[in-house]
Amino acid sequence: MPNEPKTQAKTPRVFSGIQPSGQLTIGNYLGAIRNWVAGQFKSDPIFCVVNQHAITVRIDPNELRRNTLHVAAAYIAAGIDPRHSIVFVQSDVTEHTELTWILNTITYYGELHRMTQFKDKTSKLKQDAISAGLLNYPVLMAADILLYQADQVPVGEDQKQHVELCRDIAIRFNHHFGETFVVPEPVIAKVGKRIMALDDPTRKMAKSSDNPGSYILLTDEPDTIRKKIRKAVTDSGSEVVYDPKHKPALANLLTIYSLFSDEEIPAVQERYVGKGYGAFKTDLAEAVVAGLAPLQARMAELMESAELTSVLTEGADRARVIARKTMDAVNDRVGMNWK
Ligand code: AMP
Ligand code: TRP
Repeated sequence: MPNEPKTQAKTPRVFSGIQPSGQLTIGNYLGAIRNWVAGQFKSDPIFCVVNQHAITVRIDPNELRRNTLHVAAAYIAAGIDPRHSIVFVQSDVTEHTELTWILNTITYYGELHRMTQFKDKTSKLKQDAISAGLLNYPVLMAADILLYQADQVPVGEDQKQHVELCRDIAIRFNHHFGETFVVPEPVIAKVGKRIMALDDPTRKMAKSSDNPGSYILLTDEPDTIRKKIRKAVTDSGSEVVYDPKHKPALANLLTIYSLFSDEEIPAVQERYVGKGYGAFKTDLAEAVVAGLAPLQARMAELMESAELTSVLTEGADRARVIARKTMDAVNDRVGMNWK
């Protein structure tokens, strides 16, 4: 109605998470965490260390514990403010697995089987080596998001398909049992949504790669970063130009440079006219080293302090209240409350 006062738009609830399956790479930082930080105060955000996802492939329990703290430290060191954002560990809120079971019953085998990540992770495995957990992983992810009634899910491009499946599951549940879940939107950054491997610009940079030269870890020493960038593959020719189709390796390095130096790609490109790859790579390494230095210092400090434990404990307490409310409604809708 034209004369009615506009209602104040609700602050969007944001939910996202990273698996503690290894140390984080600059791909995780540029594709995900940086964007969480940028949007943090315009939203009502929840950031989770999704350790139950990390056990879908074999991982040493002590390593998992270490990585869990490492990922939480990275969130905070990168600028997530735990006084505003909820930061917690997935297994501390048991509602995630509780909701997963219910959602499993309305998710189809065919849907899960078609997921690109599932196909990639299992293409070389025999059927008897593929755990049901790996297949069901997107259902756990849907539960993570739906429990908190998230409006937006900021992720890298590789996770878009999983968020879309989450939307389908939410719509299906609402249809069968009545309006229960907010249907979330994926939010994907324009630049940095897919940082590629340094040794192969056709693959995404991933912490699970066998070749440490393919990624830069948030915790890599300056000299390691310099060495990895020096060895990064480049394309034929010698001009520093942004041309993803013909020069995918350079396009990736220019993207990394631009994000770490907060400069637009054309401005960076301009500076290297007639200078060649060598000079560009040297400066890129320094931009990455300088960009990571404050983050690394803060991470080291957090890993040594009790602050992290109290942030995560308090975060789980805050998350649990929201999750329980949704779970009670879900149990009610499907008829689990028999009393
Ligand atoms: P993962 O490491 O698979 O748990 O991913 C955590 C988050 O980082 C997700 O939002 C991913 O989409 C994002 N991410 C992981 N690797 C990259 C990459 N190479 N480029 C951009 N985003 C990434
Ligand atoms: N599956 C995501 C990944 O591998 C991590 C994840 C788990 C996630 N639960 C989530 C991301 C919920 C966003 C929202 O990157």
